[in-house]
Amino acid sequence: MLTTINKVSAHVGDEVKIGGWLYNKRSSGKIQFLQLRDGTGFIQGVLVKKQVSPEIWEAASTLTQESSLYIWGTVREDERAPSGYELDVTKIEVIQVADEYPISKKEHGVDFLMDHRHLWIRSSRQQAVLTIRAEIIRALQDYLDQNDFTLVDPPVLTPSSCEGTTNLFHTKYFDEDAFLTQSGQLYMEAAAMALNKVYSFGPTFRAEKSKTRRHLIEFWMIEPEMAFVEHEESLKIQEQMVTYVVQRVLANCQFELKTLGRDISRLEKIQAPFPRITYDEAVELLHKEGFADFKWGEDFGAPHETKIAESFDRPVFITHYPTELKAFYMKPDPNRPEVVLCADLIAPEGYGEVIGGSQRIDDPKLMEERFEQHQLPYEAYQWYLDLRKYGTVPHSGFGLGLERTVAWICGLDHVRETIPFPRMLNRLYP
Ligand code: 4AD
Ligand code: MG
Repeated sequence: MLTTINKVSAHVGDEVKIGGWLYNKRSSGKIQFLQLRDGTGFIQGVLVKKQVSPEIWEAASTLTQESSLYIWGTVREDERAPSGYELDVTKIEVIQVADEYPISKKEHGVDFLMDHRHLWIRSSRQQAVLTIRAEIIRALQDYLDQNDFTLVDPPVLTPSSCEGTTNLFHTKYFDEDAFLTQSGQLYMEAAAMALNKVYSFGPTFRAEKSKTRRHLIEFWMIEPEMAFVEHEESLKIQEQMVTYVVQRVLANCQFELKTLGRDISRLEKIQAPFPRITYDEAVELLHKEGFADFKWGEDFGAPHETKIAESFDRPVFITHYPTELKAFYMKPDPNRPEVVLCADLIAPEGYGEVIGGSQRIDDPKLMEERFEQHQLPYEAYQWYLDLRKYGTVPHSGFGLGLERTVAWICGLDHVRETIPFPRMLNRLYP
């Protein structure tokens, strides 16, 4: 019976057949220990010379790293094995003896590994990251699906910008100009007026010349948008969603977190409610913590965010940024129009901003004023202005960057390992 390594526990004492790859091999002359992986897990196959035919013993001897094979064996419980099980091998069928594998046990430079990303993703660490990424996506969608959000897919090709024009990817759309989306938000606002609570999940593109460990050119964002939900309520939804995601990873990905050597105690602390500080308070904190020159009105960079995060053991919301710093659509605080009803969620341990969100301007007059101030072309955004004309309502939304969230939960130094094939300033291959 063909099975997979993650299912062997159901077959103790039975003979099973597994399709997999060899990642390591040891031999004592009388016994060969075959370390196998099949993408669902890792298991050791034990091949005893006296118990198999000379052909099978010979075939096993030819196996190189990443050779592909079918293997038959009896499943045995073994406390010493990392997975808890071993396979007493009865037969193997080699599919291919692999060429000499470029990634060996020795240390490789990051550039070399990135050039071989198509092979690097086979390693146990990368497999753990990609498994956790998939669990995070599932958890995000489950949370939203179970809380009355409807999935809506905004376009990737767009005629105009959402977060400002400086980092747009330009392309031709037949005879017209078009851009790859930086955020589905404006379309999600339209969708919220049609379906109340909505979210999108998809790739977004930023032609940023930033070369930092937090920036990708192509990254995935989940963007909820909610009619009749104001700033405060939106923060509650964000902290509940993030708590749910972290708890799901803790519940379902213990093996992967262990593979990565993640300090689980840091993740166990992630429980709503999250602390909230205003931009003003954050500036004060920076003044006391070695950034005496920081001026009100400046944006926070990575060192500032890291410093602010150090004061908290869970993610912290920084709210009420200066209006000047933020996007045109954010609603000013009615008591203090020089700041907006917005929040960035800063992850602990120096992972930086994982969510950006705000209440949106719902007043048609004010929205028109913003269009003047930001010199936005009315024609391109006529549809967006319509939303403020035909039954405008208070509404809020936010965008969670998937890769930064994965980097934080996995405890990785760099977002390049959080996505199967990263697109970065100097990398479009493989
Ligand atoms: O703060 P941003 O730019 O917000 C928006 O795009 C809003 N329109 C979202 C909304 O309200 N619907 O991006 C949101 C998040 C950031 O907090 C960050 O996690 C991630 O997207 N992000 C990036 N991740 C990787 N590489 C980049 N270059 C990123 N830029 C933003
Ligand atoms: Mg932001």
